[in-house]
Amino acid sequence: LGEYFVHVAPGLLAGLSGMLDQAMPRRPRVVIADDRVAALFPAAIAAAGSRRLTFAAGESSKTRSTWSELSDELLASGLGRDGGLVAFGGGVTGDLAGFVAATYLRGLPYAQVPTTLLAMVDASVGGKVGVDTRFGKNLIGAFHPPAIVAADPETLLGLPEPTYRAGLAETVKHGLIGDAGYFEWIEANAAPLLARDLAALTQLVGRSVEFKAEVVSRDERESGRREILNAGHTVAHALEQASGYALPHGEAVAIGLVIECRIGARLGVTDDALSERVGRLLGHLGLPVGIPASLAPPAILAAMETDKKKRADTIRMALPSVLGMTHRDGAAWSVPVPRDLILESLSAIG
Ligand SMILES: NC(=O)c1ccc[n+]([C@@H]2O[C@H](COP(=O)([O-])OP(=O)(O)OC[C@H]3O[C@@H](n4cnc5c(N)ncnc54)[C@H](O)[C@@H]3O)[C@@H](O)[C@H]2O)c1
Ligand SMILES: [Zn+2]
Repeated sequence: LGEYFVHVAPGLLAGLSGMLDQAMPRRPRVVIADDRVAALFPAAIAAAGSRRLTFAAGESSKTRSTWSELSDELLASGLGRDGGLVAFGGGVTGDLAGFVAATYLRGLPYAQVPTTLLAMVDASVGGKVGVDTRFGKNLIGAFHPPAIVAADPETLLGLPEPTYRAGLAETVKHGLIGDAGYFEWIEANAAPLLARDLAALTQLVGRSVEFKAEVVSRDERESGRREILNAGHTVAHALEQASGYALPHGEAVAIGLVIECRIGARLGVTDDALSERVGRLLGHLGLPVGIPASLAPPAILAAMETDKKKRADTIRMALPSVLGMTHRDGAAWSVPVPRDLILESLSAIG
């Protein structure tokens, strides 16, 4: 997987210390975790490093102020250039601790030990780290790929149901945009996945991680392909913003995938049958696929206008062509979408 060393195995946490010794031979290793995760996995955290720093769990901690508190604690402890960090937890921890690692003494190696499905299949791979600001999410950050990603699917067994399902939306996205066989596998395994069968979880995380790592590492040669990972997200980000972030990201992605398939079909880019098939699978997985009645299409479009990914004056979307393939127009992996078509598709029932 190119520069990424990704390990996915149930029970892996028991051997984490040895794995980190090999992949990141740094002393000391300092683990960063949120307080909830620190209480859930004390033994694995103690084994992962000789010191531990915690912060309050939740997206509201992903800020420059927490970044500066953690950095100051590391400076006060005298952590030097031979040290390393371990981001142990969900996507918030990965982004925040990864950003501390990117900037501490101009950059320290770090390991990602993701413990939510979203962190495993999405946030821990790709090297994007950063914090939120009052102007928007993830606006201050860096590219800082981890030295190793170590994911233990057993940690997912205790995740709250909505947190778990949010990650499922991203795995469906991976199949839809680049791997039809994977999408079909999720369709066939919806029941064991919902029951969090460990073998099914391990396959799911393994395939998604491999897929995302392949996309981001190939992007260095085939510039711009990474954009396919944004499928569903133009609409999703607008829904999240329009809802005042009351709508969880994974639910917004589920709705966004269906709406964007519908938009693609109207543009003649996407197979007509796809939006229904994607909606059916997401519905089976317990995810919403319709726009909440409280969100008016014009408000959603207005939110889209302020999205940072909007280039110049056009709204662009990465759209599937058929199951497992993203539409490509020359060198571009996204297409401009007219505003009236967006409004229509946001208003359509079904
Ligand atoms: N860098 C990227 O490429 C990338 C990609 C996608 C998402 N993200 C970021 O990821 C963040 C969301 O990640 P998240 O959903 O993991 O959020 P999170 O880290 O806040 O975790 C969600 C909640 O689950 C708890 N938790 C974590 N592991 C647990 C476990 N094993 N059992 C029980 N509870 C557990 C956490 O304490 C937290 O309260 C967002 O900030 C988003 O921007 C980044
Ligand atoms: Zn996402």
